[in-house]
Amino acid sequence: MPDSIYHEGFSFLTPDERLSFDEIERVARVAAELGVTKLRLTGGEPLLRPNLPELVARLVRIPGIEDIALTTNGMLLARQAAALRKAGLHRVTVSLDSLDPTVFARMSGGRGDLQTVLDGIEAARAIGFPHGVKINTVVQRDVNDAGIPKLLAHFRHTDVIVRLIEYMDVGNRNGWDRADVVTSREMMTRIDALWPLDPVSPAYRGEVAARYRYVDGGGEIGFISSVSAPFCGNCSRARLSSDGQLFTCLFATKGTDLRTVLRDADHAGEDEPLRQALAGIWHRRTDRYSEERQERRSRAEASPEDKAGEKIEMHYIGG
Ligand SMILES: C[S@@+](CC[C@H](N)C(=O)[O-])C[C@H]1O[C@@H](n2cnc3c(N)ncnc32)[C@H](O)[C@@H]1O
Repeated sequence: MPDSIYHEGFSFLTPDERLSFDEIERVARVAAELGVTKLRLTGGEPLLRPNLPELVARLVRIPGIEDIALTTNGMLLARQAAALRKAGLHRVTVSLDSLDPTVFARMSGGRGDLQTVLDGIEAARAIGFPHGVKINTVVQRDVNDAGIPKLLAHFRHTDVIVRLIEYMDVGNRNGWDRADVVTSREMMTRIDALWPLDPVSPAYRGEVAARYRYVDGGGEIGFISSVSAPFCGNCSRARLSSDGQLFTCLFATKGTDLRTVLRDADHAGEDEPLRQALAGIWHRRTDRYSEERQERRSRAEASPEDKAGEKIEMHYIGG
């Protein structure tokens, strides 16, 4: 969220423009009736939403929901971890790109504080979540790649799993260039030379991270190869923005407005229109942006689309 746009005078969504907890719960309940079993609270920064544990507690009670996860920048985690655990949150993922304070500051826009994030991770780990605590690390060439071994060393021999993510061309403002991507293969080679790795079988179909374990017993590590090995065909995710737009791809250019369906006075309290909207969007979805990017590349086409177009920004629909 660049300062040039989101400065002090920027007008964010008003409370009425955002979905209320009642509305989010309703979408989740209808989605669960249609077969959804896993929910992830992301953002933006989800811990900025007041009373988030209350939302978690409501979502946990929905029949069919088996797993509720949170992706956070970790800044407010230490003070909220206990309440989130008590509310029933199953897993926490903290985004952490570097243990070098200067690199961390650069990658977090100069606003985060590394020690506060580390304290948040430690608090979550100490409290213990049923499905654990993970770290998401986006690797950018010549920005944080040299510091990855230090970051991995910090979490080796703990139960915290680090997942290295290929830097993606999300949104329009991150100045993405393919040369900035360090592929999982390259990272794996570098890491394997330090600490030999062995593959671990996927836990479930559609698992986005390729899992490896350190042969010396140092624990597990994951690689998310969204650029070099896109997994659109296995993607079963839909994303709901805080103002009620539903997106079926991280790289979507437009979503479907569910807020209007939720607030339609003519059908107040009826779930059927929402059910139809959700099922219809799901059955019609065709997005496979990452595979198309890959196909263009293998045909060696110039790919202006990689940079052009008004894609939805990552901070709007989460990771
Ligand atoms: C957009 S954030 C939102 C949630 C929360 N504010 C956070 O920082 O974790 C979700 C995830 O997307 C990842 N992410 C952001 N930009 C990315 C990019 N260009 N390529 C790959 N992952 C990215 C972040 O590292 C983070 O783990």
